[in-house]
Amino acid sequence: MERRTITTEKLPEETQLELSLRPKYLSEYIGQEDLKNTLKVYIEAARSRKEPLDHVLLYGPPGLGKTTLAGIIANEMGANFKVTSGPAIEKPGELVAVLSGMKPGDVLFIDEIHRLNRQVEEVLYPAMEDFVVDIVLGKESGARSMRYKLPPFTLVGATTRAGMLTAPLRDRFGVVHRLEFYKPEELKTIVERSAKVLGVEIDSAGAMEIASRSRGTPRLANRFLKRIRDFAQVRYDGVITREIADETLKILNVDAFGLDRTDRKLLRLLIENYGGGPVGLETLSAALGEDAGTMEDVCEPYLMQNGFLKRTPRGRMATEKAYAHLGYAIPPMQETLPFL
Ligand SMILES: Nc1ncnc2c1ncn2[C@@H]1O[C@H](COP(=O)(O)OP(=O)(O)OP(=O)(O)O)[C@@H](O)[C@H]1O
Ligand SMILES: [Mg+2]
Repeated sequence: MERRTITTEKLPEETQLELSLRPKYLSEYIGQEDLKNTLKVYIEAARSRKEPLDHVLLYGPPGLGKTTLAGIIANEMGANFKVTSGPAIEKPGELVAVLSGMKPGDVLFIDEIHRLNRQVEEVLYPAMEDFVVDIVLGKESGARSMRYKLPPFTLVGATTRAGMLTAPLRDRFGVVHRLEFYKPEELKTIVERSAKVLGVEIDSAGAMEIASRSRGTPRLANRFLKRIRDFAQVRYDGVITREIADETLKILNVDAFGLDRTDRKLLRLLIENYGGGPVGLETLSAALGEDAGTMEDVCEPYLMQNGFLKRTPRGRMATEKAYAHLGYAIPPMQETLPFL
């Protein structure tokens, strides 16, 4: 069976639409100002030296624009963009094949780079550092290692879990940057841009409503926009207003703070079954039937950043804000618990 490590096949319609929503240049990429400003300098410097950009590692919660940014880097460098992912490359030889197929200056994007296995990862070290690969020919006593030169290239790695990257791999990236949740005003701009691309009318309050309920995440904002567009089309005159956005988001179980059913389930469990915590992540994930890694990457960062959840040395705790938001009476001793 043929398995592709680089995607080239035709994409389904939904994915095509997703691609059209993707900004192609830095000037269209909204937010992440620090990252954009530094990247601009590095890109300009590399271009004027006629060298590839240094390797870039992007990390942070899903849907914040890592893949988008990797594509932008290739566009801004005027380079080819090749896409693969950690789990797609099983054997060292497959990575060697990808690397040796590159042209000078190409950008290779490896998504979920923390999922590369050890042997494959070891091919990357000399490739990133010296643009060479070592290939072992023959077996046992007759084995000899041959070194091949690669064209200079830029590796862009993305991960939701920077902590799971080995130190030797992390250290080989010249630029390491964390993507942050977007501010509501930034998401509003993204929603308005996407509405234009989709050819749907939205008023300012409607865009703000989606923005403030999208967990700081452009992917969610775009997804909500598409669903709300359906409601606006079928039940109303097609223009998205705050009321239509609110109504649809309620149907989608997204509350005023943007918390979804899983978020609320997690907080409720903490409060009702464990007196607000502290509770270990494993216990919580077992009780919820959710993967611990997913909870840590997807649910927790937003809940913590917005003050619904605290991480203490003894486990997770629900905050007063969580009690109040979900309509529970705040226990008097809550604040002193973590310091016992
Ligand atoms: N800064 C931005 N400006 C405008 N749109 C954005 C921006 N960042 C992301 N988007 C939109 O959000 C969608 C999701 O972004 P992307 O796929 O790049 O996220 P990701 O970080 O790679 O997520 P994952 O970790 O799940 O792979 C894109 O289709 C794009 O339309
Ligand atoms: Mg991605």
